[in-house]
Amino acid sequence: MKIIITKNHEEMSRKAAALVASQMILKPESVLGFATGSTPEGMYQKLIEANKKGDIDFSKIKTFNLDEYYGLEKENPQSYYYFMQDKLFNHVNMDPQNTHIPNGMAEDTEKECREYEEKIEKAGGIDLQILGIGNNSHIGFNEPDTEFVRDTHLVGLNEDTIQANARFFESEEEVPTQALTMGIGTIMKSKKIVLMASGKGKADAIYNTVKGEISPEAPSSILQLHRDVILVIDQEAASKL
Ligand code: F6R
Repeated sequence: MKIIITKNHEEMSRKAAALVASQMILKPESVLGFATGSTPEGMYQKLIEANKKGDIDFSKIKTFNLDEYYGLEKENPQSYYYFMQDKLFNHVNMDPQNTHIPNGMAEDTEKECREYEEKIEKAGGIDLQILGIGNNSHIGFNEPDTEFVRDTHLVGLNEDTIQANARFFESEEEVPTQALTMGIGTIMKSKKIVLMASGKGKADAIYNTVKGEISPEAPSSILQLHRDVILVIDQEAASKL
């Protein structure tokens, strides 16, 4: 595990964007795994700027997002579909056909999850997966549990996660209680992983990721077994290492 510690969120965003950009330059048809939330927002902004300058090209890039709330329409501003259009896809030369996000309105969730796995496989697997991390060490929406779940699946969100994400909604009651998420196996199959974290609230989760016992109770701890993980984290998130 490589650990890059940055002064703040801004420097974290710049450095993570540089890693994504170098992947795109080296392999213009890369398959990228994307995350939503406050952590990667600044990085997406930097990627938009690099695209506008002509330094990176999205025309052959394929993307797969980690997760989507279950029960939110694409048009809902809180959906991860909406987030990705708003924060990145609408501003770069990305072919919409090449972007993938689990369908949060799927009636048959098992079929949706199975097909999501198949699409990733057909694309040749994920070259570089961006991850954020929950205060409770979740990655994607793989919450602390008694076992690691391998494939994309429907999951119930923990009270911690619902409270943490309530900041994006009018009230806590509006936060969906379920989501579709890549599984731990899906994430671990990515060839390279860049995990980003910023702020004191993430310090325990980062400790668990780097030094904790490998356990489904701290899902990010499994990353210790991956061959190519880079943590790009700010000083506050790194403060318990
Ligand atoms: C989002 C995702 C989540 C977030 C995590 C941190 O696609 O998979 O694991 O990365 O909840 O969220 P923020 O960045 O808002 O602190």
